[in-house]
Amino acid sequence: MRIVCPSFSDLYEPNVEIKKFPDGDSYVRVPSAKEAEGKEVVVFNRLYPEQDSALFQTVLVLRALKEHNPKSITLVVPYLPYSRQDKLFREGEVKSAEILCELLKSEGVDELVTFDCHFLKKEGEFEYGGLKIRNISLNKKLVEKAREISGGELEIMSPDQGANYLVAEFGGSSMKKERGEYAEGGEAYREIKDVKMEKDVSGKAVLIIDDMISTGGTMLRGVENVKKGGAKSVICTAAHGFFLKGSLEKLKEAGEVFVSDTIPTEVSKVSIKPMLEEMFPE
Ligand code: R5P
Repeated sequence: MRIVCPSFSDLYEPNVEIKKFPDGDSYVRVPSAKEAEGKEVVVFNRLYPEQDSALFQTVLVLRALKEHNPKSITLVVPYLPYSRQDKLFREGEVKSAEILCELLKSEGVDELVTFDCHFLKKEGEFEYGGLKIRNISLNKKLVEKAREISGGELEIMSPDQGANYLVAEFGGSSMKKERGEYAEGGEAYREIKDVKMEKDVSGKAVLIIDDMISTGGTMLRGVENVKKGGAKSVICTAAHGFFLKGSLEKLKEAGEVFVSDTIPTEVSKVSIKPMLEEMFPE
């Protein structure tokens, strides 16, 4: 049984009502909840943007279903928010990624299906925060698309070592990124100190691939490196594209940019739908 939240309306017909009360509280209704009894239920919801609110709405959807004792609940969240908060840097911090998974588990999720989850860095089945997670990598699809766009040989690179798992199977290499301390002010952001590249890319067409483009800081430094290194052209891609702080425009100036539709964007050229269809046939 498929339960589709409105955030997924570009891929499936929604059958859940999610609205806001005038004061901003969430209103959630699952009209078909009763039919979940004894069934294997798959819930499709995106948890970005407005991740905190989307997360609470998910809890309400799960509760509506649990009332009717489904056999199991699989939750499909294409981009998992808080996945970058899996390490502690300073006294008093918490591992938000772990807490999020514990919460989903306690709300009755038997399995979470997600794509290029930042703290897993590998495709496969895992357990984290007590939650079973199936992590799917989009690297093959992204590289295939980039090859189609370029029509020729590509030097494949990731802009930091954490994303090495995306390029290793293509004989790719990784740049070395160093982050600094948290910046002053109200935004929790650790500035990028340096992104070093050793590879000779002179005269080559380069593909830079990362798990996500958020502020674009990492990708832009990667592009700067390959341009300085004399690359002939550059294509930038990632599984998840947030494109904050005007980074899409800046990246477009440098070359071709595309991402998947885990987060729908104007440059989403690789769709997760065929993979979801294969996993969860109607
Ligand atoms: C970091 O470890 C990730 O793999 C990405 O490189 C990073 O989150 C991208 O963030 P931004 O676009 O803000 O540099």
